[in-house]
Amino acid sequence: MKKILAPSLLAGDHGNLRASLDEVETDGRQWIHLDLMDGHFVPNLSFGPQTVADLRSGSKLFFDVHLMLQRPDLYLDPFIAAGSELITIHLEPEYDQLSAVKKIRDAGIQTGLAINPDTPVDLFFPYLDNVDLCLCMTVNPGFGGQSFKAYVLDKVRELSKRRVEGGHDFLIEVDGGVGPQHVEECLEAGVDVFVAGTSYYKANPEERAEFARSVGE
Ligand code: DX5
Ligand code: ZN
Repeated sequence: MKKILAPSLLAGDHGNLRASLDEVETDGRQWIHLDLMDGHFVPNLSFGPQTVADLRSGSKLFFDVHLMLQRPDLYLDPFIAAGSELITIHLEPEYDQLSAVKKIRDAGIQTGLAINPDTPVDLFFPYLDNVDLCLCMTVNPGFGGQSFKAYVLDKVRELSKRRVEGGHDFLIEVDGGVGPQHVEECLEAGVDVFVAGTSYYKANPEERAEFARSVGE
């Protein structure tokens, strides 16, 4: 299974997102993680689909779009049109989740589902055949720079076990407070995609390369 280090643009320079994005491509990464916030599902705002579309043109990176929205179903069209390669939606809010998953899949792009640190892993189970990525948040979403919650790795282990038993092929992603010091325990638990905001952007090029090597990219 491929392993990926996905820098989170939330920790980049919001006055010059293009430069922060290009930096990641120059570093040799393949993915960029984009955090969209609505001020309802999470107590913060970031940017919108126009920003994703404008960044998309001129970048070769894989756009991993994480929608932290109370009603992601209402905003799928613009994020699909923006050129997202993977759209991840949360399972906590109430909306027609099945239809939203179907809409993303029918658009021919990858589908991700996400849960917060204290949400039971069981919420993923009905979808395991129809999902490309399961995101286990390792902080309560909304802000970068928080501390990694290691207890979330129990959910990763459970997902990893079910993936083998059920013959599924979804990726498992962690997001929030992830740094090089967490790589070993995450790999052991079954993590495939490591989202890193603060720890990535504050690192120098050599440290970033070492971080990527340590995840097995
Ligand atoms: C948290 C976001 C994360 C965030 C991670 O709400 O979903 O993607 O950018 O940032 P760090 O790595 O700084 O916790
Ligand atoms: Zn995120």
